[in-house]
Amino acid sequence: MISIKGLKKVYPAKHQDVVAVDDLNLEISKGEIFGVIGYSGAGKSTFIRLLNRLEDPTEGQIYIDGKDISAMGKKQLRKSRQEIGMIFQHFNLLWSRTVRENIAFPLEIAGVPKQQRKERVDELIELVGLKGREDAYPSQLSGGQKQRVGIARALANNPKVLLCDEATSALDPDTTDSILRLLVDINEKLGLTIILITHEMHVIRKICHRVAVMESGRVAEQGDVLDVFLHPREPVTKRFVEQVMGDREQEESLHLLENYQTGKVIRLHFVGETTNQALISQVSKQFDIAINILQGKITQTQKGAYGTLFVHMDGSDEEINRAITFIETSTTVEVEVYSDAE
Ligand SMILES: Nc1ncnc2c1ncn2[C@@H]1O[C@H](COP(=O)(O)OP(=O)(O)OP(=O)(O)O)[C@@H](O)[C@H]1O
Ligand SMILES: [Mg+2]
Repeated sequence: MISIKGLKKVYPAKHQDVVAVDDLNLEISKGEIFGVIGYSGAGKSTFIRLLNRLEDPTEGQIYIDGKDISAMGKKQLRKSRQEIGMIFQHFNLLWSRTVRENIAFPLEIAGVPKQQRKERVDELIELVGLKGREDAYPSQLSGGQKQRVGIARALANNPKVLLCDEATSALDPDTTDSILRLLVDINEKLGLTIILITHEMHVIRKICHRVAVMESGRVAEQGDVLDVFLHPREPVTKRFVEQVMGDREQEESLHLLENYQTGKVIRLHFVGETTNQALISQVSKQFDIAINILQGKITQTQKGAYGTLFVHMDGSDEEINRAITFIETSTTVEVEVYSDAE
């Protein structure tokens, strides 16, 4: 649906030109939540501004639904922009307008008649969960509510794509979660393609299907979110994964796993498993063993749980082995015996 080829943006400067985006190539499918992560200055905002032609590319093409955005004239572009909604970190609302009037604004610009406008605004208010706050002014809203107005406004003209530039960076963790849930909800309900820019890996892990890691204007690495979490190749990606997972080697260097007189210490590696919560209790019920969780970190992604759990299993060798075989054959969890009491 979105195809980006050889995209480049150079800002001319006195001493040395700034290459903000450099030979960027990406394919984004319809209905996908695609994340772009990178440190400050990586070129993320420039990239997103190129996507809706707030900036003109120096080189390269951007095709949205087969149409080359980068080659469009002004008139064509104005029409195409209605198919692209955008939300921002600082909401960019009109402060002298109410919630209702803010959401109606893009409809006014598009020349939608009054009655139709009203109906559409009502629909949107319902969709983003702002019922009862229609007549409030932005200054009377919380950050999360302001972003809901931003989302409703961005969706007013039924765009095909929603661009989010650090849309949750100004919000607290709970509010961030509620806005992320709203984005997933909209993605599923409307089949909307979402491109989401962030410097926070937990945002990627919670809602994105695929991710591209940007560094110095280029894509350093891209893939399914779970794959990238599991096998980060580039140093920059590893640092982002550690943001969420902690440093694996450091965890394992802890020596609390050794001093058991009986039983086995087992390492369970969850790879996209959907039933991690149930697994431990199921195994301890089904087999005559005691299971103790020692340490670990499991994180949920769009496609299931990912992470490592160290557990101590105590009981007869035979029973422990049966439990291990059960986990190996009936789940996707990888099992490794970490230490075995003699
Ligand atoms: N209008 C501009 N004129 C000149 N240089 C610019 C302009 N906009 C961005 N740059 C430069 O391009 C590079 C990429 O900036 P960009 O804003 O795209 O990064 P970012 O990844 O969005 O960073 P952040 O996470 O801080 O928002 C930076 O070196 C920046 O200084
Ligand atoms: Mg930015």
